[in-house]
Amino acid sequence: MKKKVLILSGGISKERLISLDTGLQVAKELKKNGYKVKISEPDNNLEKNIKNFKPNVIFNALHGQFGEDGYIQTILEQFNIPYTHSGVIPSSIAMDKEISKKIFIKNKIKTPKFFTFSFDMRVLNLIKKIEKKLSFPVVVKPLNEGSSVNVYICDKKNLNNIVKKLRNYKKIMIEEFIGGREIQVAIMGKTKLGAIELKPKRKFYDYKAKYNSSAKTEHIIPVNLSKKKFSQIMNIALKAHKVIGCKGVTRSDFKYYQGKFFLLEINTQPGMTKLSLVPEIAEHKGINFLKLIEWILKDASTKR
Ligand SMILES: Nc1ncnc2c1ncn2[C@@H]1O[C@H](COP(=O)(O)OP(=O)(O)O)[C@@H](O)[C@H]1O
Ligand SMILES: [Mg+2]
Repeated sequence: MKKKVLILSGGISKERLISLDTGLQVAKELKKNGYKVKISEPDNNLEKNIKNFKPNVIFNALHGQFGEDGYIQTILEQFNIPYTHSGVIPSSIAMDKEISKKIFIKNKIKTPKFFTFSFDMRVLNLIKKIEKKLSFPVVVKPLNEGSSVNVYICDKKNLNNIVKKLRNYKKIMIEEFIGGREIQVAIMGKTKLGAIELKPKRKFYDYKAKYNSSAKTEHIIPVNLSKKKFSQIMNIALKAHKVIGCKGVTRSDFKYYQGKFFLLEINTQPGMTKLSLVPEIAEHKGINFLKLIEWILKDASTKR
């Protein structure tokens, strides 16, 4: 008998629409292949939905705050039903770009130089601090978003205005801008699944470059790297997955500049639409969308 799968999608993060898309695509593929599927929001009806539907497994298709950062995972642990992707602590660490970068550094994984800024500091001091520690342009980003939401490349002139836009965050990150190529790596359990290079036509791989097909970001697979460099980036991604304690599938985002790989972040709930990067990497390795979803479901457990 095929499993009953409850798919969690939507939520209240800024990546709600992407999550709904991930949820729908996974549901469609599973239904087509004989699974019983129910889609649920992570809201007050979740418990009732679980009681009525009695799923064998919960597929977490949420992205961003409350879905990717340990909150929902804490709730899922209490239902005692196997759920997918990373558990409470790794999810919360990976979602916090400051903590995860500190762990990368501790484990000798190269990541762009950075510091964090909270709004009790004056912007004037901020420019001084940047000039002392980094050089312009810099990248300003929230610590806990995804999909490039509120990520900006700044020079000295527009820093002030950009930082003001991010006022609602408790803390933001100022990171050294790394030029060069953009490469992302997928890990599946203990397996190095593969890599893909993104060539955005826009200024960088921002929200539009990620999700608007009219923005025409070029996807390059296989990535043009020497055997040695390819193996190096795969090993870094696997190491990041392990040191954070991730489970299931992750995607690590890198910049490749002057022969060095800089890890920007590791994603514990990578997008799973048919056009997303992890499914594309899997497909290239001979694992079609259904097989990828089935692997994720099989890997699910009650205690992550
Ligand atoms: N330090 C950096 N140097 C150059 N580009 C960057 C840097 N940080 C972020 N970017 C660009 O912004 C995109 C999103 O940044 P990332 O840190 O991965 O945050 P998100 O969680 O929103 O995906 C990256 O894929 C890259 O194109
Ligand atoms: Mg990213």
